[in-house]
Amino acid sequence: MTKQTSQSPGVSVDALGRPLRSLRVSVIDRCDLRCAYCMPEEDYTWLPKEGILTFDEILRLVDAFVSRGVRRVRLTGGEPLLRSGLVDLIRDLARRSGVEDLALTTNATQLARWAGPLRDAGLKRITVSLDSLKPGRFETLTRRAALDDVLKGIRAASEVGFDELKLNTVVMQDFNDDELIDLVDFATDHGAQARFIEYMDVGGATLWSAERVVTREDILTRLAAHFGPVTPEPSRGAAPAESFTLPNGARVGIIASTTQPFCRTCDRSRLTADGFWYLCLYAGDGIDLRSMLREGATAEQLTTRIAQVWGQRDDRGAEQRLDVPERGALYQIQELRQDPRREMHTRGG
Ligand code: GTP
Ligand code: 5AD
Ligand code: SF4
Repeated sequence: MTKQTSQSPGVSVDALGRPLRSLRVSVIDRCDLRCAYCMPEEDYTWLPKEGILTFDEILRLVDAFVSRGVRRVRLTGGEPLLRSGLVDLIRDLARRSGVEDLALTTNATQLARWAGPLRDAGLKRITVSLDSLKPGRFETLTRRAALDDVLKGIRAASEVGFDELKLNTVVMQDFNDDELIDLVDFATDHGAQARFIEYMDVGGATLWSAERVVTREDILTRLAAHFGPVTPEPSRGAAPAESFTLPNGARVGIIASTTQPFCRTCDRSRLTADGFWYLCLYAGDGIDLRSMLREGATAEQLTTRIAQVWGQRDDRGAEQRLDVPERGALYQIQELRQDPRREMHTRGG
């Protein structure tokens, strides 16, 4: 069943009245870092190579999503810059008039080399994951001595001048919660916005425990103690981040997915690199769009399927997690190995 809003003909609306607007496309499940909140294990099961969508297949799916309402596309991984030819995909996506907002989430290890070509290809917004400014700690957190490369990447992005540069930090108790102030100042110096994310108990986060979560409230208290009064900005619409302004003019985002989920306004879904469509970050199963593509589905058949599935969507994964007694990691490693699409690095952060 597809409902349509009176303002936006053709936009699919789900069972809870949420429009289909934002699509996050994972282009690769591999990553060159091993962040403690995402890939803490020694071994992973990777998606079989032959299953990975070609750029042509990705574009056909994006077109089908756009015709059902998607206007914002974000490329994710794994680490998307490890996918060869990514700039070509970005150029093709940027040319599509239906894609009004095109963004990339990257760990920036390769960004120094790619910042210019990405901007030239039409990419407007970049979000970089940056969890520590201390080299030793960065290495402990990510199991790679890559901080120098990441900082070079951020500098390059800042210099080539994207419309928006954001720095995402997952805040973990006793890991990096003493760096909030330094991260805000670093972001300001690079024309970027610092964003602090609550540690989530998603697939992949096998080390998750409630004690490790630094809450939105804690983050605000620490920022106010240093900078002075923190002023909330007006309504955020469907965005997961709430924005705040500091007395020095800096803007900071907080994403409180764990303690104050925003499922009610969630207009996003995710495509894995092998063409499975997930309606929620916490969803156990995805919809196999790759088989449809490879069995010769027409654009209309894809569009119809997307509308039909979205019309029935009632996911509220993060909200439902609030009701779990003695909340722990969502999955154990054996369950992730059985189905690697449950991993955050496979469905995109
Ligand atoms: P903008 O497009 O700039 O608004 O970025 P974004 O905040 O939508 O995307 P980003 O990739 O920066 O997401 C930041 C973090 O928010 C992710 O890494 C997740 O931790 C969290 N997040 C993103 N999407 C979802 C979602 O659908 N559900 C929940 N619960 N958390 C999400
Ligand atoms: N909790 C919160 N955010 C996470 N990410 C990955 N795993 C987690 C988690 N357990 C997000 C981070 C990272 C992006 C790629 O995915 O924001 O920057
Ligand atoms: Fe870290 Fe992102 Fe790689 Fe996960 S996918 S290990 S969050 S850099």
